Amino acid sequence: MAKHDLVVALDIGTTKTCCLIGEIDPAGKIEILGRGISPSQGLKKGIVVNIEEVVHSVEKAVLEAERMAGFDICSVYITVNGDYITSLNYSNHLKIGNSEREITEADLKKIIEQSKKSELFQGKEILHFIPKSFSVDGHNGIINPVGMLGNKLEMEAHIVTALNTILQNIKKCIKLTDLEIEDKGTVLHSLASSTALLTKEEKELGSILIDLGGGITSFVVFKHNFLSHSGILSIGGNHITYDLAIALRLSIQEAERIKIAYGSVNPGLIEDEQIEVNSLAQNNKIFISKKYLMEIIEARVGEIFSLINNQIENLKEKGIYLTNVVLSGGGALLPGILPFSRNILKLPVRIGLPSLFTGLPESYHSPIYNTVIGLLLYAVSQNNHKIYKNKSYNNNYFKKLINWLQEIF
Ligand SMILES: Nc1ncnc2c1ncn2[C@@H]1O[C@H](COP(=O)(O)OP(=O)(O)O)[C@@H](O)[C@H]1O
Ligand SMILES: [Mg+2]
Repeated sequence: MAKHDLVVALDIGTTKTCCLIGEIDPAGKIEILGRGISPSQGLKKGIVVNIEEVVHSVEKAVLEAERMAGFDICSVYITVNGDYITSLNYSNHLKIGNSEREITEADLKKIIEQSKKSELFQGKEILHFIPKSFSVDGHNGIINPVGMLGNKLEMEAHIVTALNTILQNIKKCIKLTDLEIEDKGTVLHSLASSTALLTKEEKELGSILIDLGGGITSFVVFKHNFLSHSGILSIGGNHITYDLAIALRLSIQEAERIKIAYGSVNPGLIEDEQIEVNSLAQNNKIFISKKYLMEIIEARVGEIFSLINNQIENLKEKGIYLTNVVLSGGGALLPGILPFSRNILKLPVRIGLPSLFTGLPESYHSPIYNTVIGLLLYAVSQNNHKIYKNKSYNNNYFKKLINWLQEIF
């Protein structure tokens, strides 16, 4: 039997944790063997606030996926998100010192290693180090300088880092579930989403992927085929829910319900009508204006897109012009989001939806699953997946199954 590789993607979102076990056949085709979802608990804006709860959410999603696949997994790729993650464009140079000598792979390695040791990254872990371009003796725009003659090699890279102390807590939670994180397997949430969504042409011409999650909105910008900028705003769809709960005096659960059932960002387009809701204050049913509901939603969504627009304007000042915007995450499900965001960003906007792998049901065709799908594709692109040989159930599996059944009944 031909050997198949296995990759496991674990997206730890601010509202849900999602695990996909994918098998890659020798031709590179991906089939999903197991999937699991659990509500994310113990996290606040991407930061662990309760280890036990995070471990529980991860265990639940992983166990569900393992149960479906019929075997245990041992290592995963994970997503991380939160304002403890920062990114910057970093330049460095290396003196070759002899124009007769060709630049070698060893020179490239040296300039990258030197850069990683910069004091800028002290107390931080480098999640992504993406060399964007090189220049040799002042001639820039070189993609690969190996083999060229020159005295001075310069490199520009986009570097994404995470504060060590905070990142270690997420890593600890994964360890406590008996899982290992793959080498270079800690992936920026929005970068994972972009892997599933942005076309080669979009990455070349200049695009921004905006992931509208629960507690966080994050973005990545691609230009000339490279990740050139990334950023995180600590506002997301949950803030809309809290706004509704406070303004209309509703429970969080009721505010979320009416947001999903009646929310939109087209106030100009509708006739007003009254919606029946469960009031928290009066503990009975009251009527609220649908137009008022939309105004509250519009204020928050407007704030998010204005902040993103500031980022796009900053990029323009640096000579980086974008040609389109792709939306992802649960916030992209809000009716009216396309015209609303186009109006603020003054760019073409589309909602990103990747094609599904074999083994994924149609319910996964939603922007909320783009990240886990993208993470799996990212993992496959890393080319260091584990070879999977034996599909037999092991003891640990039965132990976990019993725990799982006890939890249900
Ligand atoms: N139909 C919808 N309309 C508006 N918001 C939605 C809809 N469905 C989900 N959301 C919001 O999307 C957010 C969750 O998005 P998701 O991408 O799953 O987040 P995360 O990755 O942070 O867990 C929540 O704030 C949720 O209320
Ligand atoms: Mg997400």
